[in-house]
Amino acid sequence: MGKGKLKRDGFWSRRRCIAPSRYWKLFVLLLIITVVFGMLSDLTYMSTEQVGKLNDRTEKQFKTIVTGEPVLRTSPKILLYTNFFGSMKWYHESKDVYQTKCPLGCTLTNDKSQIESADAVVYHLSDIASQSTIKSGFSFSFPKYRRQDQVWVFFNIEPLTMIWGDMTVWQGMFNWTWSYTQNSDVYAPYGSATTLNAEEAAVAETNSELLNADFFGAKTENGGIAMISHCTDEARRYRIIGTLQKYIPVRIIGRCGEGCPDGYLSCNALLPKYKFYLAFENSDCEDYVSEKYWRSLARGQIPIVAWKLYHDDIAIPGSYINVYDFPSIDAAGSYIQEVNKNKTLYNSYFKWRFTHKLSDVSGFCELCRKLKDDAVPRMVYHDMNGWIMNQTCKPVTVSLIVYVLF
Ligand SMILES: *[C@@H]1O[C@H](CO)[C@@H](O)[C@H](O)[C@H]1NC(C)=O
Ligand SMILES: *[C@@H]1O[C@H](CO)[C@@H](O)[C@H](O)[C@H]1NC(C)=O
Ligand SMILES: *[C@@H]1O[C@H](CO)[C@@H](O)[C@H](O)[C@H]1NC(C)=O
Repeated sequence: MGKGKLKRDGFWSRRRCIAPSRYWKLFVLLLIITVVFGMLSDLTYMSTEQVGKLNDRTEKQFKTIVTGEPVLRTSPKILLYTNFFGSMKWYHESKDVYQTKCPLGCTLTNDKSQIESADAVVYHLSDIASQSTIKSGFSFSFPKYRRQDQVWVFFNIEPLTMIWGDMTVWQGMFNWTWSYTQNSDVYAPYGSATTLNAEEAAVAETNSELLNADFFGAKTENGGIAMISHCTDEARRYRIIGTLQKYIPVRIIGRCGEGCPDGYLSCNALLPKYKFYLAFENSDCEDYVSEKYWRSLARGQIPIVAWKLYHDDIAIPGSYINVYDFPSIDAAGSYIQEVNKNKTLYNSYFKWRFTHKLSDVSGFCELCRKLKDDAVPRMVYHDMNGWIMNQTCKPVTVSLIVYVLF
């Protein structure tokens, strides 16, 4: 189950055009082996003990602290040097973030000519490494200019099953990492919650609206709904859904289900009507709790998740049903069937509202805050690869391998 078992021989998993004409026998053999192993690995559940062992990994350092005081500016300039999946939409959508969402006094630009005055330069992983560059060497050209106190930021928010590359070429290149993993310098989860302070908790305890809330009664539809638009299935979602359907009705909408005939918004409007949202991630990686989970909480639904790895340091304990907390998927299904019928039991999944509140963490705000914080040391990632490899993802499954090869 270790991370070392992931096959990493190219940057991107979407490699469709390998022509194995000369090696077809070897190729077929390899395929059979991967299918068999993939099936076996699908049957393996990770126990808490195994997860514990993973977390025993030796404490290796992937970054080096550079001597010297950080240079702090009252209004740091952040330069988005690359696109985000080929598009500059992330700049246009975020350019006002420092005026509206987090008025911390940073400025954001995508104008490369401002490299000399930029305090942080952000590079999005898939836009500096793509399939076209992996074979012909790295064609992305980093700026020639680099000021000593400038912070170069490695940005990636995709689950790590999507990254199969060797990043040794970037040793010593980046100062900070910006990702959804908790060990990132700029920690940007897809959602978050904070614990209520004593005063807020006291208010919540006597809040009659909260005390009388009937999440069960507010649902017009029985059972669960899933919206799936990324049809490959690294984490075996469809198999789990198939089993759950023996116990509760499950409707699948989105590109990989019924579609959204009346548009995306009409699909979104369907979601809150159902008792459960099947918030299955497309990948099963450490710290990877995507917006699927957070949005179902915000909608007043119970998320059904399939987490083999421990996530209660990010998610709110008692707010979800994890199918892997049961001895089998059938056992989970039969329990969910119960919750689907029992109002008291159903509503008990919303007790977290007396102790927690949902909050918004923006990577942009976090980056700005760090740039202005003199407690953050100067540093450089001498082992970019090690940093990525130190994360755990569930082993690659058959469907992913087949998808990657063909
Ligand atoms: C490597 O991963 C382990 C387990 O998640 C973690 O405790 C440790 O801090 C990580 N090491 C570094 C240097 O990030
Ligand atoms: C419903 O769930 C509650 C809480 O778990 C339990 O005490 C009660 O017996 C259940 N009711 C029925 C009818 O099963
Ligand atoms: C960033 O990394 C570079 C290259 O390794 C290093 O020379 C520089 O001192 C680092 N800067 C900061 C602000 O950490």
